[in-house]
Amino acid sequence: VNADAPEQFHAVCPICRDRPGGPASLGVADDFASDPSGVRHGVLRCADPGCAAEFPVVDGLPIVRADARDFLAAAQGALRRRADLPDALERVLADTIDPGTREDLDRYYLSVYARDAYPGEGETSGIVALLDEVLTISGAPLVPGGAVLELGCGVGRACFELAARGQIRVVGIDANLPMLRCAAGVRDEGVARFGVRRAGVLYEPVERAHDSVGRERVELWCAEALDPPFAEGSFDTVLALNVLDCVASPVKLLQRASAMLRPGGRLMLTTPYDWTAGVTPMEAWLGGHSPRSDLAGDPASVLRDLLDPDAPGQTIDGLRQTAEKDRLPWSTRLHDRARLEYTVHAIVAEKTE
Ligand SMILES: C[S@@+](CC[C@H](N)C(=O)[O-])C[C@H]1O[C@@H](n2cnc3c(N)ncnc32)[C@H](O)[C@@H]1O
Ligand SMILES: [Zn+2]
Repeated sequence: VNADAPEQFHAVCPICRDRPGGPASLGVADDFASDPSGVRHGVLRCADPGCAAEFPVVDGLPIVRADARDFLAAAQGALRRRADLPDALERVLADTIDPGTREDLDRYYLSVYARDAYPGEGETSGIVALLDEVLTISGAPLVPGGAVLELGCGVGRACFELAARGQIRVVGIDANLPMLRCAAGVRDEGVARFGVRRAGVLYEPVERAHDSVGRERVELWCAEALDPPFAEGSFDTVLALNVLDCVASPVKLLQRASAMLRPGGRLMLTTPYDWTAGVTPMEAWLGGHSPRSDLAGDPASVLRDLLDPDAPGQTIDGLRQTAEKDRLPWSTRLHDRARLEYTVHAIVAEKTE
């Protein structure tokens, strides 16, 4: 974390956010180890002495969540996972990871998203293609010098892409430490390291150089997309690429995205509406479960209506749709013999007030 990032992005304490008088700011309280890129290991602390909540910075990644204690308790394995073992030994140890465990799922998701974000020679990145689509339909260029927040940045490719294209203030937040670690490798060393799933539990370690301009300026924070730890109205652009269907409450994601935007700012979102009941309770799915409703359960129509202040029924305060494009192809590779083909809806909304 850059020492001035908390101030630059108006970081606030997620724990005392709802107190009377509003949330207090966060700042670097301890710097245990730093390098030219900023604080590598340290602590961010809430400025309100009555709260004084502490949030650790590990490997340059601040972990800033209202549930920091529980999150850290559950994330010990990922936090302390080492990256210094020889590949050959890594493979021997990796063989012993049981399918379906946290470690197994971590490496699986990392394989899926990192291989798309940092493809091999001659391959293109699906997420960059989606980013290009949503930037194109948004019509207006990004504000030079504007602040961008990416919700669910995963391995960070879109953040680095925007930094390379001149956005000087980009912060990506995600809940997944292994993905953020991979992103931090790109930011700090220009190298994406991950295992590519070949088949079953066979993973091949790869390193892909990704030395994009301005990568060192990207901030990567481990934070909750439904409660980003930043003051309201702090961002010109909020980006959410394929995360709407990964959160417990899609409506809350839209509400928080709206709250993060300054008037005139824009939300750029893509989604395949690929709901998973274990992640998003069925009642919270945008459509897709009620063919008898006016919108016939079509998720894209439900999202359009949420972003139309004049629509009857529930709408998202402060957001109005300005552009969309549907049926964009996006695919992910699961392993050497399987891929998933999605059809993605891209939508842009402007903050009206
Ligand atoms: C489908 S992946 C997309 C990643 C990236 N945007 C891309 O398209 O390559 C969804 C991402 O959202 C993150 N995510 C899911 N729920 C989240 C939450 N509640 N808060 C923060 N991140 C979350 C996941 O960890 C994952 O990295
Ligand atoms: Zn606080």
